[in-house]
Amino acid sequence: MLQHRSFEGFKIKPAKDFLQSRVPVLVNNDCHIVLAAPQQSMQNYYYKNTDADELIFIHEGSGTVHTQYGELPFSFGDYIILPRGTIYQISFNDEHNRLFIVESFTPLRYPKRYMSRLGQLMEHAPYCERDIRPPQDLKTLDEKGDFMIKAKKKGMLYGLHYGTHPFDVVGWDGCCYPYIFSIHDFEPITGRVHQPPPVHQTFETNAFVVCSFVPRLFDYHPLAVPAPYNHSNIDSDEVIYYVDGDFMSRKHVTRGMITLHPAGIPHGPHPGAVEKVSVPGKQKNWQ
Ligand SMILES: [Fe+2]
Repeated sequence: MLQHRSFEGFKIKPAKDFLQSRVPVLVNNDCHIVLAAPQQSMQNYYYKNTDADELIFIHEGSGTVHTQYGELPFSFGDYIILPRGTIYQISFNDEHNRLFIVESFTPLRYPKRYMSRLGQLMEHAPYCERDIRPPQDLKTLDEKGDFMIKAKKKGMLYGLHYGTHPFDVVGWDGCCYPYIFSIHDFEPITGRVHQPPPVHQTFETNAFVVCSFVPRLFDYHPLAVPAPYNHSNIDSDEVIYYVDGDFMSRKHVTRGMITLHPAGIPHGPHPGAVEKVSVPGKQKNWQ
């Protein structure tokens, strides 16, 4: 049915194992949106998604992603980007973890309009190369044994057994590697009047974009109405995942909530919200 929906993401039950904890909540041919609350580090196996690039947003928890490229320590607010085919194993520091995961069936990349012809992030981008954390501390694990890699192909998991450690790598080069970008390093683009959603764009694929709505000064012209305008998204569905901030004071919105605004019907601020924020000097942190 064509209607707005909301889901209470933190009602997803925690599970011990990382793969078993992953619950797909919204899916289409372009991406799967998955929530997970794993309690334990991955034990006795490694994982490789051969179908999709993975974006893992750390809402709660911390730990390290071990990959054949090196290690990626992570904490709250990190977007971990894992290109398809990356073999990885995650260790968590404790059992309290909440992850928002997007599996993308086309490559996840920096927005094209922020890239120079030569592949450098340009000055008007909301982040730059210094904000990208590549894998570190490559350890060459020259070991023999039985190493199981759970490989996902066409939605099925297969157990591949290697006779040598999958991280028996002495080095690597190229521009395809896992990395982390923290939402705390996203430098918001602001304006005197309400800025359109593309200013929040953080990643893109051939099929969808990922945006970060972060705390910022906004709509600061004296006559600006500091609230989003009603709009009709006719080209794409919109999904919002609520992490932290002023929405806590709004009714019906909780941490970890997902709202779905399907293409085809208009949406905008809650009734009365525009009137509430249009008093000069009284600003709210709207999406
Ligand atoms: Fe919208």
